[in-house]
Amino acid sequence: MASDSVHLPLITILHHSIIFLLLFKLPSCLSSNPTYSNCANLISCGQIRNIGFPFWGGNRPRECGHPLMELICENEISYITINDVKYQVLDANPDSHTLKITRQDYSIDLCQPNQASTSLNTQLYVYDSPYNNLSLSYGCTPSEFLPPNYIPCNRTSGETVYSQFGSLSPVSCKTSVVVPVPLSLQEIDSFFQVYRAIKEGFVVRWIIGVEECDKCEKSGGECGFEGPSQQTICYCRDVPCPNFSPDDTKAFPGTSDIG
Ligand SMILES: *[C@@H]1O[C@H](CO)[C@@H](O)[C@H](O)[C@H]1NC(C)=O
Ligand SMILES: *[C@@H]1O[C@H](CO)[C@@H](O)[C@H](O)[C@H]1NC(C)=O
Repeated sequence: MASDSVHLPLITILHHSIIFLLLFKLPSCLSSNPTYSNCANLISCGQIRNIGFPFWGGNRPRECGHPLMELICENEISYITINDVKYQVLDANPDSHTLKITRQDYSIDLCQPNQASTSLNTQLYVYDSPYNNLSLSYGCTPSEFLPPNYIPCNRTSGETVYSQFGSLSPVSCKTSVVVPVPLSLQEIDSFFQVYRAIKEGFVVRWIIGVEECDKCEKSGGECGFEGPSQQTICYCRDVPCPNFSPDDTKAFPGTSDIG
């Protein structure tokens, strides 16, 4: 008798969860997955607290985040690399899905960039607020086509950085780096103003797996990524992830915790 009374609601809930899966197209759900407890690990580093999906790094394993979204913690500062440019993470907000980031190579000096322009991996991120592109050009030889604004960089060598709005690369310069700056930046011939605008950083919003993960977490699971196609996956305990509130979990006396 005791077993009947356990099985009946189980079947009902399984039945409901199948309907739920059909209705809401939940990401595929693994049962009895030992990774569950590890994907509950959140990343904290310096001012950045409790960051989970879609990021991984530190004690949060690789399969709990997107492969290109590792948060690296060095001396209590978080870093992320986007399209080969390393950024310091100034702020992270899981509720708004935003990161405030600033280029690491410009954190000390405007004159020695790693020579890659800022660009976003548009499958993963979008700009969260309006910005202007600013092009900083290096190794320029005198030419009538150089932009009118420049910043002295090294007074000994006379090296200058040419600055102009837009995503442009003067032909008489060796290299140009495009960076997003706030719309408030006006004086692009002032080293201090340009440096401060870049150092202040900009806000990006992550867009990968956001809806699927909300559904997964509401159903009691933990999100991760799986396989070569990098599908969002919902890691659960030893039941499929049905859409039940935390209170309903207690209706499973037989459910054993993993870990
Ligand atoms: C900034 O430059 C990039 C690359 O050229 C371009 O895709 C983007 O639309 C530009 N953004 C603005 C606000 O002009
Ligand atoms: C400035 O330029 C001079 C001459 O090229 C060089 O010796 C010096 O190291 C440079 N200083 C900096 C800070 O880059």
